[in-house]
Amino acid sequence: MARIPYVYAPPVASVRDEPFDRLERFYDAVPRDGAHTEDFGGLVLFVRDGAGWPFYARPRLDATEQPSAADVTAVRQRQRDLGLPEAFEWVHENHPDLLAVARSAGLAVLEAPLMVLDPAALPPPGDFPTTSVRILDPQAPTFAADVAARRAVAAVGFAAPGTEVGTAGPAARDTALVELPVDSLDEERTRTAAGRRISAVVEMPGQGPVASGMALRVAEVAEIAGIATLPTARRRGLGAAVTAALARRLLDDGTNLVFLSAGSEEIARVYLRVGFRRIGTACIAEPAPVG
Ligand SMILES: CC(C)(COP(=O)(O)OP(=O)(O)OC[C@H]1O[C@@H](n2cnc3c(N)ncnc32)[C@H](O)[C@@H]1OP(=O)(O)O)[C@@H](O)C(=O)NCCC(=O)NCCS
Repeated sequence: MARIPYVYAPPVASVRDEPFDRLERFYDAVPRDGAHTEDFGGLVLFVRDGAGWPFYARPRLDATEQPSAADVTAVRQRQRDLGLPEAFEWVHENHPDLLAVARSAGLAVLEAPLMVLDPAALPPPGDFPTTSVRILDPQAPTFAADVAARRAVAAVGFAAPGTEVGTAGPAARDTALVELPVDSLDEERTRTAAGRRISAVVEMPGQGPVASGMALRVAEVAEIAGIATLPTARRRGLGAAVTAALARRLLDDGTNLVFLSAGSEEIARVYLRVGFRRIGTACIAEPAPVG
C-alpha cells in the first residue's frame, strides 16, 4: 500500500513556531558547505568532504514522509560502510514521532534541553569581572596554537562528563594537545574570518587555557557548542563566562537567534544563569549498548 504523503506542519500555531522553523533550517544548512548529502527516505546523511568532525543524519528538510525505522536502519548501514559514527540528530518538537521510531530501530536517544537565549537576560560583561575570556582572532599569529588549545580543553573536559570538579587539569590538556593538520587549520581560519565560527578560551594566570567553547553561525542564527572546563577549574563560573562572552559577541554581530542544547538538566542550569531558556528538546541518537 502506498504511504500517505507526510508534509511537515507544526501541530499548533503559536509564537514558538518561528524559532523551531529557523532551527530546522539552521541544522540543515550548517553541514552543507563541508559535506555532500545522501538521502534515505525521510532522512538525509551528511558526509563530510575532507578533514574534520563527522556529521550526523537528520530528517530531510524537504521530506514528504516521516522518517521510518527502515530509513534509520539504511542510514546506519551506510554510516558503518563509510566508517562513520552512527549519529542522528533532530528537534523533537519538529519530528515528534521520530523518538519512538529511532528507539525501535535500536538507537539510544539523549533528550537534551534545547535552549534559546533571551537577550534581555544575558548578564552584562561586568558580571564576570575576574575572568579573562578571549575570543580568537583568525589573523593573530597565535591562532593555530589557540585553536589547538580550545580543542585540547574540550577533549579533556568532555572526557570527564558532568559538572563535578576533578583531577584532570592543565597537564592533561597539554598531553591532549595535537598540532592541527593544515586543512583543518585553514577551515577554522576561513570560517572564523567569515564570521561563521567563533571560538573562545578562558585563561587563568599560570595555567593557560582552562575553559573553551565555540559557536557556529549561519546568517542570523547561531548555535553555541563544545563548552568545556578542565575538571580542576570547574565551579568557578568559567563555563558561564565563556558562554556569556560567545553570546554577547553573537548579539553584537547581529545574530538574533542564539541557541544551544545542554547535555543534561544539571548542565542546563549553567546556561540558565547566562540567560538561556528551554524551548524544547534536541534529540541526539547513537546505537544503544548491546546486552
Ligand atoms: C558543564 C561545564 C562546562 C560547566 O563548567 P563550569 O566552569 O564548572 O561552570 P560554572 O562554574 O559556570 O557552573 C557550574 C556550577 O558551579 C557553580 N559556581 C559558579 N561559580 C562558583 C563559585 N565561585 N563558587 C562556587 N560555585 C560556583 C555554579 O553555580 C554551578 O552550580 P550548579 O551545578 O549547582 O548549577 C563543565 O562541567 C564541563 O566541562 N563538563 C563536561 C563537558 C560538558 O558536558 N559540557 C557541556 C556540553 S552541553
